[in-house]
Amino acid sequence: MNVLIIDDEINIRQTLRSILEDEGYDCETAANGKEGIKQLENFNADVILLDVQMDEMDGLTALEHILKADPTLQVIMISGHSGIGEAVRAIKTGAFDFLEKPLSLPKVKITVSKAAKFRQLSMENRRLKIDIEERYQLIGNSPPMQKLREMIRKVAPSNAKVLIRGESGTGKELVAWAIHQQSGRADKPFIRFNSAAIPAELVESELFGFEKGAFTGAVKGKKGKLEEADGGTLFLDEIGDMSLSAQSKILRVIQEGEFERVGSNKTHKIDARIIAATHKNLEEMVAENLFRDDLFYRLNVVPIHTPALRQHPEDMSQLVNHLSCMAIRDLNVTPKNFLPETICALKGRVFPGNVRELKNLIERIYILEEKEEIAPDDLPETTTRKSNSDFFWQETLSFTEKKKDFEARYLEVQLELHGHNVSRTAEALSMHQSNLSRKLKELGIKL
Ligand SMILES: Nc1ncnc2c1ncn2[C@@H]1O[C@H](COP(=O)(O)OP(=O)(O)OP(=O)(O)O)[C@@H](O)[C@H]1O
Ligand SMILES: [Mg+2]
Repeated sequence: MNVLIIDDEINIRQTLRSILEDEGYDCETAANGKEGIKQLENFNADVILLDVQMDEMDGLTALEHILKADPTLQVIMISGHSGIGEAVRAIKTGAFDFLEKPLSLPKVKITVSKAAKFRQLSMENRRLKIDIEERYQLIGNSPPMQKLREMIRKVAPSNAKVLIRGESGTGKELVAWAIHQQSGRADKPFIRFNSAAIPAELVESELFGFEKGAFTGAVKGKKGKLEEADGGTLFLDEIGDMSLSAQSKILRVIQEGEFERVGSNKTHKIDARIIAATHKNLEEMVAENLFRDDLFYRLNVVPIHTPALRQHPEDMSQLVNHLSCMAIRDLNVTPKNFLPETICALKGRVFPGNVRELKNLIERIYILEEKEEIAPDDLPETTTRKSNSDFFWQETLSFTEKKKDFEARYLEVQLELHGHNVSRTAEALSMHQSNLSRKLKELGIKL
């Protein structure tokens, strides 16, 4: 840890430097605030000892400059007896602590060591925040991803309920987080509740909390996720997996902002923005009475759809890059180079598990592949769905039938890639639109 000592008395600078260096700190000194700030350009200080009364720029002014540049720096003010008032003001400005002259050396050591620990924690905290931001970053600049971002930007500031839908692994959780981050609730909790990951009989007590004695084993009460989210956002993930009984309670929270803990009659008021997500077909579930229609309509105020990976293959390169960086960090491995042909091959691959599956694939390559350069042949075979080569080895059909089969599959994928837009697909395939339309009709492909 590095300590910068700023004091106009040379004796103090020397004494502090010598005792702190004995403690193992790297020290630099400066004779006034101005000089100290200059020093910080070259010296990466963690803790600063700062005299309150100095000629060239006093301690308080210096403190403001220092904290503005880096709020995680820990500044300990040093003041003569007459400067106590200023020292107190310094604490209010954000100084870590203050020491009074004449300095007690043991106290200096303890205070510096505490400040150093605090500095370490605040840097760690900052790293974690950056890490979360990176991890939750939505990657991709393709039109579907731009549209998604635009939706997020529009819906975030309001309190509107949002229902995020999309296939598995398409980033629904990232969207929920982005909405929270861009809302006025960003500095309040973002609480995720996954109905599918919790045994049905525990869903209600987890979500609404419970009172002491509510059931055997409830030796003391516990807050539920809903209460934890008060003031912030409650993300109800996999809402399609919630039991009908939990659904009706959630409906009441949405309608009246009220709920009771399990085993209690006391009504709690709650202010949490609700964002829900599912990969299930809720309309179908409503038709089969598996999902309450009133809840569906309440939740579905703003529907947001996350595109499947095959709908934005243009983002493959960026995604591989991003997932690569994550893998390098998480797995502590050295970087690999994915060749342009490899990116191309990945674009043509089917990923039923979307970006999550791509992420797993990249991690697998980092763990198992020793080569630094990844060529198309180094990609592991897909396991989730029949690979292309299976197509050629399948049951023998007549040449004409097989050709028809191929054309149909090919055109279906291409239509999907081009947003089911016939003229765009035709253009991409260098076909006349009328020819493509005829072909689709012939093959029985409906749009
Ligand atoms: N556009 C994207 N940019 C970066 N990472 C993404 C993107 N989409 C998905 N991911 C990553 O893929 C993984 C799955 O994303 P997420 O958990 O949000 O999917 P989901 O839509 O909630 O899927 P499920 O329905 O299976 O829960 C995560 O690791 C996430 O970081
Ligand atoms: Mg999810």
